[in-house]
Amino acid sequence: MSAVAQGTRELEEFLVLSNEEISERIESARAALGPRVVILGHHYQRDDVVRHADLTGDSYQLSVMASQTAAEVIVFCGVHFMAESADVLGRPDQRVILPDLGAGCSMADMATIEQVEDAWEQLGDIGVLDQRVAPITYMNSSAAIKAFCGRNDGVVCTSSNAVPLFDAYLKSFDKMFFFPDQHLGRNTGAKFGIPLDKMVLWDPHKEFGGNTPETLLDAKLILWRGHCSVHGRFKEWHVDKIREDVPGVKVLVHPECTFEVVEKSDLNGSTSFIIKTVEQAPPGSKWAIGTEVNLVNRLKQRFPDQEIHLLAPDLCMCATMYRIAPQNLAWSLENLLDGVVVNEIVVDDDTKHFANVALERMISMTEGR
Ligand code: 13P
Ligand code: SF4
Repeated sequence: MSAVAQGTRELEEFLVLSNEEISERIESARAALGPRVVILGHHYQRDDVVRHADLTGDSYQLSVMASQTAAEVIVFCGVHFMAESADVLGRPDQRVILPDLGAGCSMADMATIEQVEDAWEQLGDIGVLDQRVAPITYMNSSAAIKAFCGRNDGVVCTSSNAVPLFDAYLKSFDKMFFFPDQHLGRNTGAKFGIPLDKMVLWDPHKEFGGNTPETLLDAKLILWRGHCSVHGRFKEWHVDKIREDVPGVKVLVHPECTFEVVEKSDLNGSTSFIIKTVEQAPPGSKWAIGTEVNLVNRLKQRFPDQEIHLLAPDLCMCATMYRIAPQNLAWSLENLLDGVVVNEIVVDDDTKHFANVALERMISMTEGR
């Protein structure tokens, strides 16, 4: 789905430049391109890239904000599914660039459309689809999976709106099939009191996902066996240890963390929720935050009057997001100056249409909530 245009300038040319030179070249290309281009920087992006972003935010906010600008080209410093979402939500005249095509999301890659379609067929074969089953996908998934949900009465959710969407779907469906993040699914299901044994795991490499037909018929929530390798690094012992080391600390985690870690935390919520919680806290507040390190470090810098710790002592960095380096950004922008769109992300029209159905359903179901 990605079209790769050969650049007039080679990336290698940029790899040998100093950080200062790269920064200057980004700034001068940016100035020359003017409002024709918008640079988006996801909250987890490294500092030396975020400083060049016109807009920063979470994955969904960024796509919506970009579509509202006059820009013809969106340079998305994030990961592949985010660039696809920008193409789905963008205007037809807008084009999207992912400065490094290797910037994927390991969680999104844990569910392919072929695996999802095969799972759906198996559920049909054993009679599960005779019940009212809704497919729900996390924003962190391919456009093809979003379109699958659009075609099958399902929806897309983000970590900010999973709760109201579960609420609505639990009222009108017998069961939900949630991909690809088992932890967001389980943590949200638990908020509605669904017992753990009614939330079964679907392993795409096993027949019936590794379950018996009876278990699947009886389940309330079928959770895809996917996870985020970054948020999966936070463990229960990290919570115990920080509470011992920093009396009065509040543990604030993203719901991509495991059920056990979320259960032990004081607060959990999306990237935007984490930022808002710290923004609204009084000076002297103490936090141990369980999310990506670049975001936590920026919160530390912004709020020196609060005591902010990363929940785990080791580096919890999104390595794929990190692949977008200032060199890639400079390379993309200078090619644009020559009229060449490199690393373009293009979602085909049919997929775009049905992915939009699922996204618009999400928007209409969460408006005013
Ligand atoms: P947001 O939807 O909050 O941007 O999160 C994306 C993500 O990848 C979290 O790990
Ligand atoms: Fe994907 Fe996790 Fe990186 Fe988010 S932090 S983009 S879920 S790998």
